[in-house]
Amino acid sequence: MLKTEPIDLEAIRRDFPILKREVNGKRLVYLDNAATTQKPRQVIEALVDYYSRYNSNVHRSVHRLGEEATEAYEGAREKAARFVGASPKGLVFTRGTTESTNLVRFSWGEKFVKKGDTLVTTLMEHHSNIVPWQLLAKRKEANLRFVSLTPEGTLDIASLEEVLRDSPALVAVTHCSNVLGTINDVAKVCSMARKVGAATVVDGAQAVPHFPVDFAAIGCDFYAFSGHKMLGPTGIGALVSRKELLEEIDPFHGGGEMIKEVFLDHSTWNDVPYKFEAGTVNIADAIGLGAAVDYLTHVGMDKVREHEMALLRYTLESLTGVKGFKHYGPREPENKGGVLSFNLGDVHPHDLATILDEEGIAIRSGHHCAQPLMRWLDVSATSRASFHVYNGQDDVDALKAGLEKAGRIFRL
Ligand SMILES: Cc1ncc(COP(=O)(O)O)c(C=O)c1O
Repeated sequence: MLKTEPIDLEAIRRDFPILKREVNGKRLVYLDNAATTQKPRQVIEALVDYYSRYNSNVHRSVHRLGEEATEAYEGAREKAARFVGASPKGLVFTRGTTESTNLVRFSWGEKFVKKGDTLVTTLMEHHSNIVPWQLLAKRKEANLRFVSLTPEGTLDIASLEEVLRDSPALVAVTHCSNVLGTINDVAKVCSMARKVGAATVVDGAQAVPHFPVDFAAIGCDFYAFSGHKMLGPTGIGALVSRKELLEEIDPFHGGGEMIKEVFLDHSTWNDVPYKFEAGTVNIADAIGLGAAVDYLTHVGMDKVREHEMALLRYTLESLTGVKGFKHYGPREPENKGGVLSFNLGDVHPHDLATILDEEGIAIRSGHHCAQPLMRWLDVSATSRASFHVYNGQDDVDALKAGLEKAGRIFRL
């Protein structure tokens, strides 16, 4: 494995049952982690344990099972909040990043955005950090503006300064691009936005799973992330904010458990964060997310980052020699998450992904839910390999061999 391996890769791989699987008679090489990560047995066991030993609703029942479920669910909230440097009272469980940005759109946007306001996002965003703001802008007759990018695929600070002259109501930015891998200096962006009075939203979907994140140090108003991209279950994620701000904004969904009192003509709201968690919540997957946080904490996020940086460096060195290989985004691992987008000559990314699948290699091909970025790159699609803690040099070697095979098939 890597000469300077900061983690025990073989021991980690033993924790992921799916990695024993073969695809088309080959060892599974899973390089689609930006879409979703695999789950260690510790997460799977936490789900099985909940359903087989203490399945019950939370916050309602005084019986033993109900208390155990509530304790585990609130324990998961504490773990997830601590993991990103936030207070548990400021962490709302959602279905994931998409639901988190939509929560901001409704709960904050309905209250604070006025006709003629400017909302700002960037050209490197996932659709979940664009479409909610388009919908909000349309409903409120506000303007949506985009920060452009430098040729290297980083945020163009001059363009940011230009849009901030409009004194926008909101600036929404990704912490790490799911296509270019660019890690943005979100603390700086938020500080610049705050100076002109803008609220700030940071999309942490590709950050929290890959490097240490400190919500308090970033200084944003809202921070969103997804459990399934950080070794946790699907259907669970979070919106992190300050308790006082959550108290100030309106509820997102109405129903059971988010209320204090209900009268015929009005209701009063539960304390935060429960005000935003209407109905029966996703108990099992929140507990699974808590187990994923424990797992990543045990490995150490500094080590996860170090491992992925070494892998990224090795990948860029290995693949640069492959005929027709064209990479998009920053090249220095210091400024890049574990995401690598590329094209191979004029081979369509879907054809490439199909050839790699024959070799047991899973990558993503397509627009990666970032169509404005694809247009900016002037491509219809890219191929994307993305890493997590169980990937090693052997996976990159397999990818390289697969790309060379595709090159031979397409006579590059
Ligand atoms: C940068 C980024 N933001 C947001 C999302 C949306 O996450 P989810 O589908 O978990 O809501 C993704 C998922 O690919 C992403 O990569």
